[in-house]
Amino acid sequence: MSDKKRVSRRQFLNYTLTGVGGFMAAGMLAPMVRFAIDPVLKSKEGGDLKSVASVDEITKEPQRFEWTIDQVDGWYESEVQKTAWVYKDDNDEIVALSPICTHLGCTVDWGSNDEYPNEFYCPCHGGRYTKDGDNVPGTPPTAPLPVFEHETKEGMLYLGEAKDRGGA
Ligand code: FES
Repeated sequence: MSDKKRVSRRQFLNYTLTGVGGFMAAGMLAPMVRFAIDPVLKSKEGGDLKSVASVDEITKEPQRFEWTIDQVDGWYESEVQKTAWVYKDDNDEIVALSPICTHLGCTVDWGSNDEYPNEFYCPCHGGRYTKDGDNVPGTPPTAPLPVFEHETKEGMLYLGEAKDRGGA
């Protein structure tokens, strides 16, 4: 009799069934794991700057510009319309403000209220913002309008994400 340990029929069956079972389980779980973490593996879309308007179109008076971005939300891809109020300030710097009221999310308009012609006005609860987007104290909004990150290239204005500016 040799010193080699012999594998019994029962052990052989155990090893074989464990191996085959493990292989089958891995085959079933791998696609599920891949499906679960797929959005994490994809590169983030929609964060790039988008061409919105010619710099020549931008005036001292805020104008509303619209553009679309491709948005990926989990497994759902869609085209989303974005809007910004854009103007040149006294130093000829471009300012791009979000039109979303920081009170409860209505859309603000520039100069739409005759009593406050040089302000952004929110019709929902009478929220007001100065031209640079600061909320007027005593009105419902407690934070200024978010500002879009932007850059100009070859005579075009590119806008990215709107960034909150904080507030009380
Ligand atoms: S949502 Fe704009 S003031 Fe309330």
